[in-house]
Amino acid sequence: MVRLAVFASGNGSNFEAIYEKKQKYDVCVLICDKRNAFVLYRAKRLMIPSYVIERSSYRTLEEYEEDILMVLKKYQVDWIALAGYMRIVGNVLLKAFPRRILNIHPSLLPLYPGKEAIKQAIDNHAKTTGITIHYIDSGIDTGEIIAQAIVDILPNMDEETVKDAIQKQEHLLYPQIINQLIEEEANETGTY
Ligand code: GAR
Repeated sequence: MVRLAVFASGNGSNFEAIYEKKQKYDVCVLICDKRNAFVLYRAKRLMIPSYVIERSSYRTLEEYEEDILMVLKKYQVDWIALAGYMRIVGNVLLKAFPRRILNIHPSLLPLYPGKEAIKQAIDNHAKTTGITIHYIDSGIDTGEIIAQAIVDILPNMDEETVKDAIQKQEHLLYPQIINQLIEEEANETGTY
């Protein structure tokens, strides 16, 4: 079974959906960069080991990621899913996991990258937005796109209700794509 690490910074609803819909992978560890994040309570409840590793405790991004890498090696992690992890991924992790780090973003990239993607769409009076699952590269939400889904912004919707609609889609599509990519890789390499 493929061993997946999830990285998160906040609520962790995607973390939980990824855990619940696991078929081709096990969620073996949570990496969190915020000590008070709600995702830590979810991990505890699901009995998934979690590590709080805060960027502010390190001088450089490389040192920060070297410590994360040590944990990933300890748990023999194969794939990483970022789920509301609000940081740029640096070279240490990119080199260690080439095309094995995924991200989910609440917009139809390349539209509305970065922070507050839902607010950006609403401020722009967009009638539709959506979600994107993509590989991570060294940019902000710029990696190769794997899958997208459209979410309508109806006239009576505000940021909160758009977010609810987006997250409903995320919780379905993200685990589905992770399972699918892992299965495809296994079929290609004949290692399943
Ligand atoms: C998700 O909607 C995800 O798309 C977004 O953060 C939210 C985390 O929710 N990610 C980004 O904005 C990344 N640029 P969650 O903590 O409940 O899973």
